[in-house]
Amino acid sequence: MRSLSFSPFLVLLGLVVYAQAAVKYLGVALSGGDWGCDIDGSCPLSTAALPLTELGHADGGGQMKHFVEDDGVNMFRLPTTWQFLINNEDEVSDEFDETNLGRYDQFVQACLVTGAYCMIDIHNFARFNGGIVGQGGPSDDMFVTIWSTLAKKYADEPNIVFEITNEPHDLDITKWAATCQKVVTGIRNAGAKTQMILLPGTNFDSAATLISTGSADALLAITNPDGTTDGLYLDIHKYLDNNNSGQYAECTTDNVGNFTMLATYLRGKKRQGLISETGASSDSSCVTDYCAQNTFINENDDVYIGYVTWAAGQFDETYVLSQTPIQQPDGSWTDNALFTECVLAPYQKAGGAKPSPLPSTASSSKKTTATQTKTKTSTKTSATAAAESSSSDAGDAGAKGGSLAASTSTTASAPASTNGAGVARAVHVLKNLAVAAVVGAALF
Ligand SMILES: *[C@@H]1O[C@H](CO)[C@@H](O)[C@H](O)[C@H]1NC(C)=O
Ligand SMILES: *[C@@H]1O[C@H](CO)[C@@H](O)[C@H](O)[C@H]1NC(C)=O
Repeated sequence: MRSLSFSPFLVLLGLVVYAQAAVKYLGVALSGGDWGCDIDGSCPLSTAALPLTELGHADGGGQMKHFVEDDGVNMFRLPTTWQFLINNEDEVSDEFDETNLGRYDQFVQACLVTGAYCMIDIHNFARFNGGIVGQGGPSDDMFVTIWSTLAKKYADEPNIVFEITNEPHDLDITKWAATCQKVVTGIRNAGAKTQMILLPGTNFDSAATLISTGSADALLAITNPDGTTDGLYLDIHKYLDNNNSGQYAECTTDNVGNFTMLATYLRGKKRQGLISETGASSDSSCVTDYCAQNTFINENDDVYIGYVTWAAGQFDETYVLSQTPIQQPDGSWTDNALFTECVLAPYQKAGGAKPSPLPSTASSSKKTTATQTKTKTSTKTSATAAAESSSSDAGDAGAKGGSLAASTSTTASAPASTNGAGVARAVHVLKNLAVAAVVGAALF
């Protein structure tokens, strides 16, 4: 009898543990500051549009507040460009333009005030106007100065995350890893001693090739000045369409094969990675595949610390990969259906953190959402937006964005209420705990 009652006890404990396996960080990219960037690292100033109403663009501040308070999102990726930070699209330098740095800081502060983690993404493909950093283009020293300056500015903000660049490609990975080592040393020595740093590999940081290109081996050899690897994570990107570019509406893979391969590798190395860019359209093929991918990532939370979906911010709902919530006349926000069903639900079903309303002190230090809404002006039609973002954010196989204007987003089937699912899951866990306690008590 004793052994019979003992095994259900273990099974129940297992259920409780399984129910709580979720990634630590659930994120959304707030695109806009990267608009117009080409994969050669040319990023025009005229198309950069940081999504903040105060800057005349979309209400990224309101979006982030909504995502945190209503959904439990706890990380935002905040793309900007080298050209914007120095306010010069022709000539590279490491001297910041105070006005533009101030604008970017406004955006970062709108993120920090929500309590979420805020990822600085210099969206330049390891380049400036065609020149590869440390490989014929801008010098390593210049790039290190850019990062050290930002690290010094945010040294006392534990929630800042440094993503060294977006999607390196067509470069010497050994040299690039040496550049990244200098950047890590620079960031730490500037006082940002504990913050997360994401290390991006070549071939557009693709999960499919991080191992085969030697990127993962080279990048995970990077250390902090004290010799540890604390806070250093492999940066990972992956799309689900047929050429991994994020340009097609149809999904052709759930990426479980690639994420299995990479998980095994990371486990062997006793290291972890963060999927800082992945995304899908609302096509029915993606409802299947994106849900499957994100469920798998949550199940492997020992090696994958989080995932960040692409993208909200300046994109409107006509963008093929739109995750932008829509604000209703009463001020409330309605999430994109794919976001609810395939980004949020897998995380919540796995026991991810519940939404956390901001403390009133935090909200009152900012303009209220309602005020921001009234001043909201959309300066771009979606067609212009699509044209401007052409070639931004290439995946493995080339630029995505060219087909944005032509795309139409079909609506995903109505998602189950995630709040309901969350509550049901919590009740389920409590019930398991109670049963486990009763069984346990009976044993001893
Ligand atoms: C990884 O993804 C690529 C497509 O990006 C695919 O061709 C390849 O077969 C996948 N690898 C595994 C191990 O599933
Ligand atoms: C991937 O697909 C997009 C959309 O058709 C296309 O523009 C791009 O050139 C493709 N890339 C490659 C390398 O096939």
